[in-house]
This record gives sequence, structure tokens and C-alpha cells, in this order.
Amino acid sequence: MQRITVQTTPIEGQKPGTSGLRKKTRVFMGAHYLENFVQAIWAGIGGVAGKTLVLGGDGRYFNDRAAQVILRMAAASGAKKVIVGQNALLSTPAASNLIRIRKTGGGIIMSASHNPGGPEEDFGVKFNTPNGGPAPEDVTNRIFEATRQVTSYDIVETQDIDLSRLGAMRLAGMEIEIVDPVADYAALMETLFDFDAIRGLLASGFRLRFDAMHAVTGPYAKAILEEKLGAPAGSVVNAVPSPDFGGGHPDPNPIWAKELMDAMFAADAPDFGAASDGDGDRNMIVGRGIYVTPSDSLAVLAANAHLAPGYAAGLKGVARSMPTSRALDRVAAAKGLDCYETPTGWKFFGNLLDAGRVSLCGEESAGTGSDHVREKDGLWAVLLWLNIIAVKRQAVADMMTVHWSEFGRNYYSRHDYEGVETDKANTLVDDLRARLADLPGKVFSGLTVETADEFAYDDPVDGSRSENQGIRVAFEGGARIVYRLSGTGTVGATLRVYLEDVESDPAKMHRDAQEALSAVISAADEIGGITRFTGRSEPDVRT
Ligand code: G1P
Ligand code: ZN
Repeated sequence: MQRITVQTTPIEGQKPGTSGLRKKTRVFMGAHYLENFVQAIWAGIGGVAGKTLVLGGDGRYFNDRAAQVILRMAAASGAKKVIVGQNALLSTPAASNLIRIRKTGGGIIMSASHNPGGPEEDFGVKFNTPNGGPAPEDVTNRIFEATRQVTSYDIVETQDIDLSRLGAMRLAGMEIEIVDPVADYAALMETLFDFDAIRGLLASGFRLRFDAMHAVTGPYAKAILEEKLGAPAGSVVNAVPSPDFGGGHPDPNPIWAKELMDAMFAADAPDFGAASDGDGDRNMIVGRGIYVTPSDSLAVLAANAHLAPGYAAGLKGVARSMPTSRALDRVAAAKGLDCYETPTGWKFFGNLLDAGRVSLCGEESAGTGSDHVREKDGLWAVLLWLNIIAVKRQAVADMMTVHWSEFGRNYYSRHDYEGVETDKANTLVDDLRARLADLPGKVFSGLTVETADEFAYDDPVDGSRSENQGIRVAFEGGARIVYRLSGTGTVGATLRVYLEDVESDPAKMHRDAQEALSAVISAADEIGGITRFTGRSEPDVRT
């Protein structure tokens, strides 16, 4: 075993995006690519010497190889210990939990989340800080700076470490502890939810289907839903994680989780359906014959979280990312809760959670979570829903009807234009930005613009400011359009257009969302010039 220093030169484009560094797997597998980035992480966090880290990933192609490299580099740079999930697996929320309960110096999560996996697909690496959350911008900026200056990296030359055996071992003076990826996470869930009540619900004939999409939540869902809570074997489907997610796209939305949607809209549909993504932080909730949008799910959870033991004392406050629908705001107003609006990306919730200002937060992109960890958490959301249903004993469709009639309904949809040429996407945004001041008072598709601006966020906890976080156009009567470019894609640009309108008339609350939003949708094209700039007449994905 030998510690060596390898000469290298900076590689362009190693800039962490919305959630860590994501690139094509082949790019990550290129000479020095991963090593340069990991060395830059050490530099960005003030060195790894003497620290304990957590390491795990979603099991995608190259996860196992990357884990070996990261362990050898941590050992070479003097880390005290690395706690690794067995077979280098850890869901993102489970990693966040381990980072926190073991009081570590942070952790590295290997994942490209909901992006497909495989040699021709995507890979990613992300650093989480000791609070368990994604590194904030000052840290990711330092990491990026370090990638531009790296001249060498340190690594230990050794045989592969056997990560399949639980227990402790040493690597060049560094301790490695291989842990069961599920145990601590399952124990945490048991402290938050009334497992007896959920067991009772499932024993009463309530049927559930959880689709792990061949990704990391399979073992977690089997252990918790089937083994601990008594859901019949087979309730968890696509439960074995595979390096290419069974050739699928592990993104829990009605498009990519079509198999689940079909099952939930069939004649013999189960009562409750849910899915999670590649690394287990997203969730999709479906009732029999009804899809619950993530924004609505967040609002329902805010209204009912107190029914679960972990939240019985009430919520401290709530937060949502700016493009997420304002259904949450209605619940917060009714309950007298503070409601924060943050930029897209979970890292912006960290300070609010750490400061005890909020205990529930969420994003329209199928992310919901609380102060139990510092990441969004797919299975947690499923368990909270099940706990609420176990208390209310109401069908999901009935719960939604009751919720909307109490708070009003925010019709909501996101239209994604993927793989747009970067120049064209940037021109669209620049052109729109230049016209913002002229928009108020103008009418598009019968909707009058009230305000138009570009979102900037002043963090109320640390005073930091984040600019250029999406363009928002609000209309008289409550409709809204948001335009943003994705920060997680790996090819070209993805334009996201977020569409919302408010309905307070109970007679009009059961329409198809695309139909209810048709005026907002055509206004979005008129205002943004989507077809004009991108040449696209239809989005690639509507969620
Ligand atoms: C997307 C979602 C965002 C989420 C992120 C990581 O980022 O829109 O809400 O936090 O993935 O899961 P985007 O590609 O829009 O930058
Ligand atoms: Zn994810």
C-alpha cells in the first residue's frame, strides 16, 4: 500500500449546479476527472485531515468504482474515518441522517438523482456539510475555484476494498466502517410516525403500491413498508436497485412512473400509490384514480402533519421554492404559520431548518421534507401520508376535495423544453429580462400582468444574497408564470416554465390542469417567445 501524488491539470466545467456536479458518466470516468473534483472538495472544505466523512450513493453505474477512488483519496489526505453504506449504497436522506447522527464532518453522495444511469447516461458527486445538507453556495464556489487551480492529487494505491461486509477495517491508517444503509434511517422514521396506526391501516385491507423504480429506495421500502409495517410482500415493486435503473428514467412523475400511474387508474387500483427517484429524495403520491401534484401534496402535509407524533406540537413554519405553487401559502395563512419563499434547490432550506424557523419544506419537483434531516426525503413523505390517512381514514381523492374546498385549488403544471441550444435559451431569458419593466398593465390571452421581476433571495439567517433565480410574471386574479433554466441538466439547456392559476369556486375544482391553465399556457408563449426563440411548439415533458 503506497500513498502517491499524481500530477494533474485543471479540467474545465467542474462547476457544481443545483445539486452537486453532474456530468455524463463517461466524462466522470475520464482521466483524473473524478480525482480532480474530489481533491477540490478537500480544498473547498478546508482539508479532510482528521475528519470523519459519510460516503454512499444510489447504486448507479460507476458508483462502486467511484467509491473506491474516494476512499483511497480520503485515506491519502489523512481522513480519520469514512462511514460507508454497504456496497457503497445510501439513499440521499439516509446519508443526510448518518452525517448528522454520527456528528461527522460531512459526506459525499454519489448520485445524479433522477437522471438515468449507465455508461452513456449521467453520474454525479455532491458534498454535504456537517448539518447533513447540500453544501451552500460559498462552499460550492470554493470547490469550483479549487478545480481551477488543482495541480496534483493524493491517492493510496491498493487492492479494492470489500464493501459488501459490514464492520470495521483500516486503509492506510484511516478507519472504514461499513454500515447497513437502512437501519438508522428506519429507526429515525419510527420516531416520527405512528407505526402501529399505519400497521392497523394496512391490516384493515388498505392496499398500497410503492414503485422503487429499480433505484435505491427498494431495500428501504421493503424493510419499512413490508417488513416493519406489514404491507403484503409485493407491495413494493421494482425493488432491486440496478446500475441503469432497469433501463428506465428514475424520476417519479406521471411520465416516467407510467407503470404506477396505469396501476393507480386501473379498475382494481390499490388505495395508495407512491414512487421515489434514483437516490430516494423525491416522491410522487397517487391515490386511486387521482394524481396529487407535489405542490398540493406539500399543502396537504402542512395542513395535516400534526396528526403524526413527530409533528404533534405543530409546525414551526413552512417554506417552498419560488416556482412551487402557492397552495402552501394558503394553508400557512390559515394556520398563522410563517411561509418562506426560497430559490430552487434544497440547499436554500438548510439555514431556515437549522435556525428552527421552519419544520416543513418542499419543491414542485417532487421534493418534500422536514427538519428530521437536511435533504428532501421520498419515503418520509410516503410515511407521513400513510400516517395521516391512518388517522383520517379517508380516500386520497376525498382528502383532496376537502382540502381544496377549505383552501381553494391552485391549478399547476410545469412545462419542460429539454436539450434546447444553450445560446437560444440564454437569448430567450435575456430578451425577457430586458422587457420585464414594460410588462405590468399589458394583457396576454385575457390576463393582465400585475408584476414582473427576476427573483433574488436574501437569506434571512445569514444575510447572503442569491440573484438570477428565475423570472416571474404575476397576473391580476392570482395566475402566475415562472421561467427558469435548469441547473441539473448535462446536455444543452432545459427551459422550465411553471404555470399556475387559482380557483376558489368548488364547482370548478375538478378540471384537467392543462385545460384549466390554457390561458396561462398561451400567455407564457406570448410573453416569453418560447416558440420564437427555441423553435419548439410543444414542451417535451408536462408534469
Ligand atoms: C431540479 C428541480 C429542483 C431540485 C433539483 C434537485 O433542479 O427543479 O427543484 O431541487 O432538481 O433535485 P433544476 O434542474 O430545475 O435546476
Ligand atoms: Zn433525487
